[in-house]
Amino acid sequence: MSVASPGRHKTFASFAAHLAEAAPTLAADEAVAGARGALGQTLELGWASVENRWAIHPMEGWDGTTDGRPTDWTLRRWRKFGESGAGLVWGGEAYAVDPAGRANPNQLAFFDAERTREDLARLLAEVHAGRTEAGLDPSGVVVGLQLTHSGRHSRPEGKKVPLLAARVPWLDAHTGVAADARVLSDEDLQALVPRFVAVARLAQEVGFAFVDVKACHGYLMHELLGARGRSGRFGGDFVGRTRLLLEVIAAIQEACPGLGIGSRLCLGDLAPHTAPEAGAPGRPIEVPLPLEHGWAMDLADPRRMDPGEPLRLVGELVERGVRLINATVGTPYTCPHVQRPAAYPPFDGYGPPEDPLTSLERQVALTREVKRAHPQAVVVGTGYSYLQEWAPHVAQAEVAGGGADLVGLGRMVLSYPRMPLDSLRGRPLERKRICRTFSDCTNGPRSGLRSGCAPLDPDYFELAEALRVRKAALRSGRRD
Ligand SMILES: Cc1cc2nc3c(=O)[nH]c(=O)nc-3n(C[C@H](O)[C@H](O)[C@H](O)COP(=O)(O)O)c2cc1C
Ligand code: SF4
Repeated sequence: MSVASPGRHKTFASFAAHLAEAAPTLAADEAVAGARGALGQTLELGWASVENRWAIHPMEGWDGTTDGRPTDWTLRRWRKFGESGAGLVWGGEAYAVDPAGRANPNQLAFFDAERTREDLARLLAEVHAGRTEAGLDPSGVVVGLQLTHSGRHSRPEGKKVPLLAARVPWLDAHTGVAADARVLSDEDLQALVPRFVAVARLAQEVGFAFVDVKACHGYLMHELLGARGRSGRFGGDFVGRTRLLLEVIAAIQEACPGLGIGSRLCLGDLAPHTAPEAGAPGRPIEVPLPLEHGWAMDLADPRRMDPGEPLRLVGELVERGVRLINATVGTPYTCPHVQRPAAYPPFDGYGPPEDPLTSLERQVALTREVKRAHPQAVVVGTGYSYLQEWAPHVAQAEVAGGGADLVGLGRMVLSYPRMPLDSLRGRPLERKRICRTFSDCTNGPRSGLRSGCAPLDPDYFELAEALRVRKAALRSGRRD
C-alpha cells in the first residue's frame, strides 16, 4: 500500500490531518516547548534522576570484533548516544552474556571478566565524552547496559546455531530452524543465571546505573515467555514461563545492591508476516489455531495482540522493585512492520500492510495501558523515529498526557544524534539529518555487513556503496 510518509507533510496542519485519519488516538502538539515543556522535565527514579524525557534505545552496530569487543565504530556510536543530550541511554546495545548466544559474530559479548570490565568502562567513557563534546555535564546522563541471549536467533560464528526455548513447528519453519536444532535444557538455562549476574556486576563496577534484562524481539527470554508447551521449571504456565526472567533479576538484585534494573519487554506480538514477493504488502502466515506457543498475542487469532500477560508481568516486576520498563512489540524477524514502522521496508522484507502510523499507534496504546495499570512503572515509549520531524510534537504530547514517562529514539540517533538536544534547546531541526526510515541500517546486517545510517551519515560511505551494489543485484534478480 502507498501512504504518505510523515516527512512529506510540510505543515503541522497537514501532518495532524493525516494523524487524525491513520492514528486517531495519537495526539501531537503544534508547538514544541523545548526544555520548558514536558520533554524537559526531570524524572526521579529513586536511585537516579533523569534530566529530561528523551531516551536513546539500544542500537547494535554489528561492528564488534569476533571476540566480542568494541571497535572504533562501536565506540563512535556510543559517543553519539552521549552527544544526543538524552537524559537516559537505555542499554547502549544488546550485550550477549554468553558467546554462544550472540546473534552475529560481531556482537559484543562476555568472554572474559577482565576484558568485559575494560570494554564496558570504555563504552561508558565514550558516552561521557559525547556529552562533553555537546557542552553537557558528562555525569548528567543515566546509562544502562542491555543484557541478552539470542536463543533461536543465535549465529555466533555467522551460520545459524539456534538455541531454542521450545520447538514450535510453524516458527521453526518461518525462522529456518533445522530439525536437529538444540532445545536448551533446564540446566542450560540455569547455568545462564550467573553469566547475567557476572556482566551486571562488572557493569556496576565501572559505573553503569542500571542493567536491562532483555525480554523482547524474539530472543531467548522472550521465547521462554511464550513456551507454553515446554515441560520442566521454565515453561508451561505463567509462573514457569516467567521464572527465568524473575530468577535472573533476583540474582542480580542480590549480587549488586544499588544497581538499577529494568526490562525491555514485549507488550504485544503478532503471527509472522510474509509477502509473495519482496516489497509486496505483508500478510500473516497460516498457523495452527489455537496456538500452543506465544506471548502477548491472541492465541485464537494471532492477527491481534493480547497484553493481558505482559501487564501481569509488569505488576510482578514492579512488586520486586523493577519499575523501569522499555515498552516494545513484535520481533524484527517475524513482524518488523509493528516493531520498527518504516516508510521503506528492509529490502528482503514485505511492504507495510497498514499505514505505519497505525502500527505506531498500536505500540503507543500498549505503552499507555502499562502506565494506566501500573502507574508506579517508569515507561519508555518506542517507534517514534517513524514520525521524523514530527517526533518531538507527538513525544511531547504523549509525555504531557502521561502515556509514557520517556520517549526513546532508535534509528533517529544513527542519522541525527543531536536531535533530542536540538529539540530541547528550541533549535530548528536539521532536516537533512532526519531519519527517513530507509531501513539501510537493517539492510546492512541482513547483507552480512555492519549497520549504520548509510544514506545520511557520510562516514558510512563504504557501507552505502556496498548496499547500492547489493540492491542492484537484487533488482536484476541476481541474488548474492
Ligand atoms: C540497526 C538497529 C539495531 C538495533 N539494535 C537493538 C538492540 O541492540 N537492542 C534492542 O533492544 N533493540 C534494538 N533495535 C530496535 C530499536 O531499539 C528500536 O526498538 C526500533 O528501532 C524502533 O524504534 P525507532 O522507531 O526509534 O527506531 C535495533 C534497531 C535497529 C534498526
Ligand atoms: S539507515 Fe538511516 S535513514 Fe535509514 S532507517 Fe536507518 S537511520 Fe534511518
